[in-house]
Amino acid sequence: MSDRIKLAMIGCGGMAGAHLTGYEKLLELGYDKFQIEAVCDTNAKNARAFADRLENSTGHRPEVFDTVKGLLKGGKIDAADIGTPHAFHHTTAIPCLRKGIPVMIEKPGGITIKAGKKIMAAAEKSGAIVAIAEQIRRCKGARVMEWVINKAKMIGKPCFFSMEVLGDQEFNWKSYAMAWRGLKLLGGGGMMYDAGVHFADMMLHVFGPVAEVQADMRTFYTPMLNGPAGLGKQRLDVEDTWLATLRFESGLVGHWSFSREAYGYKVRTGVYYGTKGSLRDRQEWMHAFQFGADLRGKDGKEIKYEKLEKQYLKQLSKRKADRLFPYGLDDGISNECWDFIEAIDKQRQPEVEGVAALKAKALCYAFYESNLAGKPISPADVESGKVSAYQRPINQYWKI
Ligand SMILES: NC(=O)c1ccc[n+]([C@@H]2O[C@H](COP(=O)([O-])OP(=O)(O)OC[C@H]3O[C@@H](n4cnc5c(N)ncnc54)[C@H](O)[C@@H]3O)[C@@H](O)[C@H]2O)c1
Repeated sequence: MSDRIKLAMIGCGGMAGAHLTGYEKLLELGYDKFQIEAVCDTNAKNARAFADRLENSTGHRPEVFDTVKGLLKGGKIDAADIGTPHAFHHTTAIPCLRKGIPVMIEKPGGITIKAGKKIMAAAEKSGAIVAIAEQIRRCKGARVMEWVINKAKMIGKPCFFSMEVLGDQEFNWKSYAMAWRGLKLLGGGGMMYDAGVHFADMMLHVFGPVAEVQADMRTFYTPMLNGPAGLGKQRLDVEDTWLATLRFESGLVGHWSFSREAYGYKVRTGVYYGTKGSLRDRQEWMHAFQFGADLRGKDGKEIKYEKLEKQYLKQLSKRKADRLFPYGLDDGISNECWDFIEAIDKQRQPEVEGVAALKAKALCYAFYESNLAGKPISPADVESGKVSAYQRPINQYWKI
């Protein structure tokens, strides 16, 4: 028991609840390299609810803290899992890293490129690892499709794709979780920087680097929000709609559009075309390939995802399967929780680390920068900091 990695959860909201389920699953399966010893949330009610839940599910009640400062002073912890709003990724991660405490940060892993780089600099200085809770590429469907495209090359050379999610969506803007998502200073941007970062990570992971992007972004609905963290009453100021083009270094070109303010007809489609056929995403959402895709060849024959999955699993060695699907778990969230603990235990890098997150963030921010500049932007220029006009007010406000 005493050798277990003592884990703290910082930010006890919606997504952290999903992480908690992942950790509970691992404990139930007998994976006992860790124990959750502390929970921390500026809203103490949320932290107490996590402590109650853990006491119920594991019989062990973690200590409750309402600041990271208090946690680092009073809690005896070896690692931290961070699930705060984007503006507080760096303010919670850096103090931990400075003490040599490894962290897993929810995507996107910092509100701006600069914030992400500061997190990585703190990690480099202390030697503590930074894992990013990017679960989509670890889901079984995504692992299968990456193999179908890049190893089995079943659609030939990828040529172009179209991913469109257009419809009207109601959100509860009065809730804390939506209020921070509606304000650039807290979320960094709208859905492009939120769920969109999953899509960006998958596109880079599957298709490689993007040379340049071009985007038009619009905001059609601007309700008054009650901004958390002292921001007070403000109008929503992030995009609700975009139409964008991605030009990959490989020559692949993609069209990506989204709107939650598109009334009447709804469009949801995600189709990826290659020289030998195409793949239609089962979900048609920004979690690309999470639930796999069906394949249709040039000859018109369809291969359902289930068959593709069988072929993928057949060629997988037991050793690789145990690493990619520990305990047979094929959901990305319990997988990332396991990977974080294993990375600490074995002193290795996690599957998704800070650099990968920085590239996904740079791709997303390239769309915002392109919209602002009115011209194509290279994600590499965003990653290097050469282009940062959109992010500047965020960096200035939070003194990043
Ligand atoms: N991977 C996914 O599919 C997925 C889905 C949803 C959210 N997320 C990510 O999870 C993170 C949190 O999103 P959410 O939807 O859970 O938000 P949320 O608003 O539900 O929860 C955030 C929690 O953090 C707490 N908090 C705020 N500032 C804090 C601080 N300084 N210290 C400690 N606690 C603090 C809040 O009180 C709240 O309980 C974001 O990075 C978001 O992008 C990921």
